[in-house]
Amino acid sequence: MTKLTSQPSGRLLYAQSGGVTAVINATAAGVIEAARAKGVKVYAARNGILGALREDLIDTSKESRAAITALRHTPGGAFGSCRYKLKSLDANRAEYERLIDVFRAHDIRWFLYNGGNDSADTALKISQLGKAMGYDIRCIGVPKTVDNDLAVTDCCPGFGSVAKYTAVSTLEASLDVASMADTSTKVFIVEVMGRHAGWIAAAAGLAGEGADAPPHLILFPERVFDEAAFLAKVKATVERVGWCTVVASEGIRNAQGQFLAEAGTRDAFGHSQLGGVAPVLAALVKEKLGYKYHWALPDYLQRSARHLASKTDADQAYAVGKAAVDYALAGMNAVMPVIVRSSDAPYRWKIEAAPLLKIANREKKMPASFLTRDGFGITAAARRYLAPLIQGEAALPYGKDGLPKYVTLRNEALPRKLPSFKA
Ligand code: F6P
Repeated sequence: MTKLTSQPSGRLLYAQSGGVTAVINATAAGVIEAARAKGVKVYAARNGILGALREDLIDTSKESRAAITALRHTPGGAFGSCRYKLKSLDANRAEYERLIDVFRAHDIRWFLYNGGNDSADTALKISQLGKAMGYDIRCIGVPKTVDNDLAVTDCCPGFGSVAKYTAVSTLEASLDVASMADTSTKVFIVEVMGRHAGWIAAAAGLAGEGADAPPHLILFPERVFDEAAFLAKVKATVERVGWCTVVASEGIRNAQGQFLAEAGTRDAFGHSQLGGVAPVLAALVKEKLGYKYHWALPDYLQRSARHLASKTDADQAYAVGKAAVDYALAGMNAVMPVIVRSSDAPYRWKIEAAPLLKIANREKKMPASFLTRDGFGITAAARRYLAPLIQGEAALPYGKDGLPKYVTLRNEALPRKLPSFKA
């Protein structure tokens, strides 16, 4: 964690990166409102770091105060996001030189990068640029990811809302299947996000407690998928309860380490695009057990569901944005505002600065103590951790048309000063 000495005047650049969430714009609101309060102008890069490379910058001072406030309840990424990996300085010096050129041309002295672990890596690389290239830039990583897999922070903004959506939807769909089971559907399977870590799947466990309450099985990426044990538990549940709800993480793998469902495409980080484990499991249930099933893949529905957001999550998302500005203006560099929990019940949390070095490129998986012995459920310790994160409803204004009043920003581009750059 470096603290640079001088306190330059200049502009602050904010960008959103990676998969967006229901509350990432609340973080943007926290950033912009905090900076405005200190008299600092905020630019936003369109589509994350790509906007910085392409000199595609948005002047947020053109947005009204009401529009920025409305970001607090608008899902998606208001400035556009990206999946783009910066290579190392040695491997692609041209990109870093370009970033410095853009920062210099627009007097950008602070860069706030709002994303997950890959984005923390980008933030860390940029935080090291100042020394390497003789330009005084401070970089703060701002946490966000529905996957909840960032190291150090107790939880990640975006997770509490997807957790609430998943727990509530699991409960609601289970009431449905319970009604139909006698003469129709016996098994309902829902697939949730979480590539390598089962936090979202675990949150479904909040829908009910006890052996007969849904979800009856949760499949975690932390555990190897055991087909025989899975089928035996589904069968036993249907015979005992009359029906069965299964929640599966998109990232579950077989004993050979292969994802059960891989779409075959990869993103810029080399991650496989996942999606489709639910129909694979459903086919198995039908073929081996003969039960009628339904399956669901909420996909983007789960991470954009602002109508079911957690107030705790929305508050934390805003708070990390505000703290990031405070850290940047205080001269800090290479840090991330993280959430520190001091108590489960009553739930108490605060924000602290943590070094990006301890966060970038690491993944926090579910601890073994959060999984039941058979690997199909969550423990009391997991419930204690998860329960506060879905607390509270984050108010959403609705219009006469019955739809939420979401904001679309003007996103007015700053005039370009440099030649174009291909990124
Ligand atoms: O950012 C996390 C995440 O939501 C994962 O859970 C999911 O696997 C992935 O993003 C999907 O990414 P994309 O929207 O780029 O396909």
